[in-house]
Amino acid sequence: MPLPKAELHLHVEGTLEPELAFELAARNGVTLPYADTEELRKAYEFEDLQSFLNLYYELMAVLRTEQDFADLANAYLARAAAQGVRHAEIFFDPQAHLARGVSMGTVVEGLWRALGSSEENHGISTKLIMCFLRDESAESALETLRAATPYLDRITGVGLDSAEVGHPPVKFREVYEAAAALGLRRVAHAGEEGPPEYITEALDVLGVERVDHGLRCMEDPALVERLVRERIPLTVCPLSNVRLRTVDTLADHPLPAMLDAGLMCTVNSDDPAYFGGYAGDNFTAVHRTLGLSEDRLRELARNSFLASFLEDDEERRAR
Ligand code: ADE
Ligand code: ZN
Repeated sequence: MPLPKAELHLHVEGTLEPELAFELAARNGVTLPYADTEELRKAYEFEDLQSFLNLYYELMAVLRTEQDFADLANAYLARAAAQGVRHAEIFFDPQAHLARGVSMGTVVEGLWRALGSSEENHGISTKLIMCFLRDESAESALETLRAATPYLDRITGVGLDSAEVGHPPVKFREVYEAAAALGLRRVAHAGEEGPPEYITEALDVLGVERVDHGLRCMEDPALVERLVRERIPLTVCPLSNVRLRTVDTLADHPLPAMLDAGLMCTVNSDDPAYFGGYAGDNFTAVHRTLGLSEDRLRELARNSFLASFLEDDEERRAR
């Protein structure tokens, strides 16, 4: 029985496995520039975040209809359930779809076909978090929030992702203020490739309740002290960090040091189809390679529920 856990850092587009990518390509008459799944898998050698993002956005071309988004989410939920995931807070990137002529309604209603019945079908409760692409303009983020207005009953929060360096959180002050006024929860990627200052800015300027990645906080002891004091959760993604070369090898990952410092970390998969593993695989990897004890693993699993946006009664049921 895998440890029950919540997945808090998962891009639904990053769950697109090569087999499903080719199936959807055939269904939609899209030609991929790869002969087959084997050749596609060979492209999964990343130098950094940007080299991954290039492929991630390219493959999204196969996602066109509500059913495509439903199939994508259902495939993820089935895999996650097998790895002990009981609750998933799922990111999606509407701007990457709007730019291709796929509407907000197609994306949200499509995902909802899977998410709306996930508890019955997979035993997983879900929440949706809409991310803004930080390498797009602040105006585009505001337009995206406006486009989401009819679907806010299905969206729990907003996030910030894509190419980090050179796109500091402060660029998105206005859209985060607007999101807060609408009652949306707030998270942001910070300190993945970007400096510790971006983490501070995400907290102080965007008012985020959770930091996605947050790894580079370890370069600033005063920031670590603050994150510990304020119990700010960090959604750490170990296999992602290795594949995007944020750390040299898994054995060098700072997760043990982060936990020893008293940081409230969770373990997550980010883009599992690209990085070699889902939530349970990340737990197994940190257990085997970093030698985290069973007690530490239980602490990480407990943190995942505590750091989630579940209400107390929902949280007790999910655990
Ligand atoms: N979009 C999908 N995965 C991402 C990551 N790890 N960092 C930033 N943006 C992303
Ligand atoms: Zn991410």
